[in-house]
Amino acid sequence: MELIKRPRRLRGTEHLRRMVRETRMDKSSLVYPMFVTEGSCIKEEIPSMPGQYRYSLDRMEEELARLCEVGVSSVMIFGIPVQKDEVGSGAYAQDGIVQRAFRKAKELFPQIYLIGDVCLCEYTSHGHCGVLCGQEVDNDKTLELLAKTALSQVQAGADMVAPSDMMDGRILAIRKTLDEHGFEHVPIMSYAVKFASAFYGPFRDAAGSAPAFGDRKSYQMDYHNRREAWKEAALDVEEGADIVMVKPAMAYGDLIREVKDRTNVPVAAYSVSGEYAMVKAAAQAGFIDETSVICEMAAGAYRAGTDIYITYFAKELAKCMDEGRIG
Ligand code: PBG
Repeated sequence: MELIKRPRRLRGTEHLRRMVRETRMDKSSLVYPMFVTEGSCIKEEIPSMPGQYRYSLDRMEEELARLCEVGVSSVMIFGIPVQKDEVGSGAYAQDGIVQRAFRKAKELFPQIYLIGDVCLCEYTSHGHCGVLCGQEVDNDKTLELLAKTALSQVQAGADMVAPSDMMDGRILAIRKTLDEHGFEHVPIMSYAVKFASAFYGPFRDAAGSAPAFGDRKSYQMDYHNRREAWKEAALDVEEGADIVMVKPAMAYGDLIREVKDRTNVPVAAYSVSGEYAMVKAAAQAGFIDETSVICEMAAGAYRAGTDIYITYFAKELAKCMDEGRIG
């Protein structure tokens, strides 16, 4: 057989496969999202996300310690308040749930990098990501509250803020406010390319943040659109975003790649709650092998171009990286 080119040659042994691997991953790029709630002695499993919990502040420590043990050193914290109101006051209260969580986490584990999700939806009685004017979310009125939220998180100890609301102009508004208060060194990771997605369902159960009426389609993106993804990413970079995110991750690999190629800032991808829930449900039914699937999903996101991978599977992936299953 006169076959000169044989791609299989490089697949013959594990040694060779590793040597020629095109995508390399590292634990330092993992971010773990976690939920904190009011009260004490609470570690409550989220029904649609088996293995994920809502922690009260006194129980948060054990989870942070586990993250440190496996080498996941970046955490995004979501607060679940008891009180909600029309204007989401809890989001920017000095002693709000997430602000207290940041203070406590910083004190207990100064080595953990803390990222604040900046949005009003967990804190508004109507569940929308901004303040309402009639049935509409008022973009410009919301900006001021988002900037206040970001500032209060940074004052409480957040190392980075990540606005997820999808209002126009929020990156600039947040940047200006942080700078005015001497926080010009704090980076902004923008949820720049965030789609109106059914994959957020389990998160909204976890955070009790489903909109009371309507949907988020007037501010989150239409998933048919690709060029709009570049538009959003470019605008946010212009406004001062240091990192841009694509969310969800799994059905959006094409856009992770395009945003990577068309911007010159690091790109993050958020593997969201629905992705987690699907893997868990299928694994529990015995239909897929969980660990193999999460490794493949992660490699897919990194191969598409992500630099930072936000995932509820961060601890499992860190172990897989240690064991050399991926990376
Ligand atoms: C807040 C926010 C959401 C998620 C992250 N930040 C919910 C939403 O936009 O409805 C979703 C995360 C997930 O599904 O894991 N706006």
